[in-house]
Amino acid sequence: MNFFPLFHQLNNKYCLIVGGGQVALRRAQALYAAGVCIDVISPVVGEQLVDVVKESGGNIDISYFDEALFNKKIQDKNYFMVMAATDDKAVNVTVYRCAKSNNMLVNIASDQSLCDVVFPAIIDRGPTTIAISNNGLSPVLTRVLKEKVEHVIPDNYGALADLMGKYRETIKDRIPNTKKRVAFLERIAKGSVAEAIFLGKPDRAEKILQAKLSQQTSESMEKEWAAQSSIDQPATDFSYTTQEKSAIYKVMAERRDMRHFNSQPLDEKIFKHILSAAHMAPSVGLMQPWRFIRITQQKIREDIFGIVNEERKLTADALDTRKGEFLKLKVEGILQCGELVIAALPEGREQHIFGRRTLPEMDLASLSCAIQNMWLAARAEGIGMGWVSLFDPKKLMQILNMPEGSWPIAILCIGHVDEFYEKPMLVLENWTTEQPLEDMLFENTWNDTKGQGGKEQSDNDT
Ligand SMILES: Cc1cc2nc3c(=O)[nH]c(=O)nc-3n(C[C@H](O)[C@H](O)[C@H](O)COP(=O)(O)O)c2cc1C
Repeated sequence: MNFFPLFHQLNNKYCLIVGGGQVALRRAQALYAAGVCIDVISPVVGEQLVDVVKESGGNIDISYFDEALFNKKIQDKNYFMVMAATDDKAVNVTVYRCAKSNNMLVNIASDQSLCDVVFPAIIDRGPTTIAISNNGLSPVLTRVLKEKVEHVIPDNYGALADLMGKYRETIKDRIPNTKKRVAFLERIAKGSVAEAIFLGKPDRAEKILQAKLSQQTSESMEKEWAAQSSIDQPATDFSYTTQEKSAIYKVMAERRDMRHFNSQPLDEKIFKHILSAAHMAPSVGLMQPWRFIRITQQKIREDIFGIVNEERKLTADALDTRKGEFLKLKVEGILQCGELVIAALPEGREQHIFGRRTLPEMDLASLSCAIQNMWLAARAEGIGMGWVSLFDPKKLMQILNMPEGSWPIAILCIGHVDEFYEKPMLVLENWTTEQPLEDMLFENTWNDTKGQGGKEQSDNDT
């Protein structure tokens, strides 16, 4: 490599060009774009070059090249570079010699052997800049390559660089581990954030980036999980390793009920993993009261969407004063998700007495455990899942040809998502807030948060 590519900060620097033709103009235009102040010496100067020089704040000497004058000029002014773009070889050589004896960078347009620096072909997707050079050997080849590269770099590539630059420090803070950070940045540069930018949706891209960032496990959060899983002290000989425990708490904390899906189809293997997770669930008396109906026909999917939409309106009416607010919420993703699955209780459940004689609803509790397993497995696989219960079960049974005695419990939307919500969507949408565990934890008797049993509370407790 004869010429090493470096990107120079040239703003407000001075450059002198000897020559006033087309080559001088192209050089001047490129330098002007970088904020350079350009002086020119030439007996003839084209109109366009005059404009560029004036706009850059430089001067033009309309004169033939004179070595003494030239020397004086370059000694008076601190040019970072001197260039010659003339077809007079003697002038070019003199410019080279004078510039070198004044320790200035020099570029002689027609002679690469008289150059400290050569001009590359530039693809400007500000702030991303691509410079192509073949050491000045073949400008045509450089131009052909430039056209090829331009073709594969989207016009708004620069906007992606802007966005990544804007979040650079935040990402550093949030993901201190270099390996993880690089992996994260690569996902940003190749994934849905870049896609949104290239589609001309910078706001959407920024939102996706923020969401992805908030999902990132900061090291402090990891420590918190590790603490929850009593990291240093295995509770028993059967305890999982710290890393395994972290993963368990992480997936529970980051599982979200999802309503927004993208169009990427779900891999069959991953789908089967998620179903297998359901089948590993505990169940009352091991009755395994779960049945899943995978919907593959678009018509059935649309019919299901129809009854959910009907129920959505009825629910809105029942909510009375919050009707408008409710209607703004996205309460299903049935038409967008990769896979649609109905979870149902089977018929004949009355035969199962074990654990259900007094609590027949334990079949439902068992099915719920299975659904939670699916939720966790999906999250661990990076797949979103949403539980939709806004439907009339009898209408759904009809659509699915379900037998008397069976009972549909959930419409499950499963699929790829652009982002996982940072908090429950109903919290993000200000529908409701989460309550702390302490409010739900009693001791000895109902509503007793202090374990006083039946004793009267003292004044201090109130
Ligand atoms: C049994 C059950 C039924 C649900 N049904 C719906 C539903 O019909 N529509 C909806 O938008 N969310 C539904 N959800 C999702 C809850 O609103 C969500 O789980 C809750 O807001 C907490 O959010 P998170 O799951 O992201 O933590 C359901 C959740 C459960 C557990």
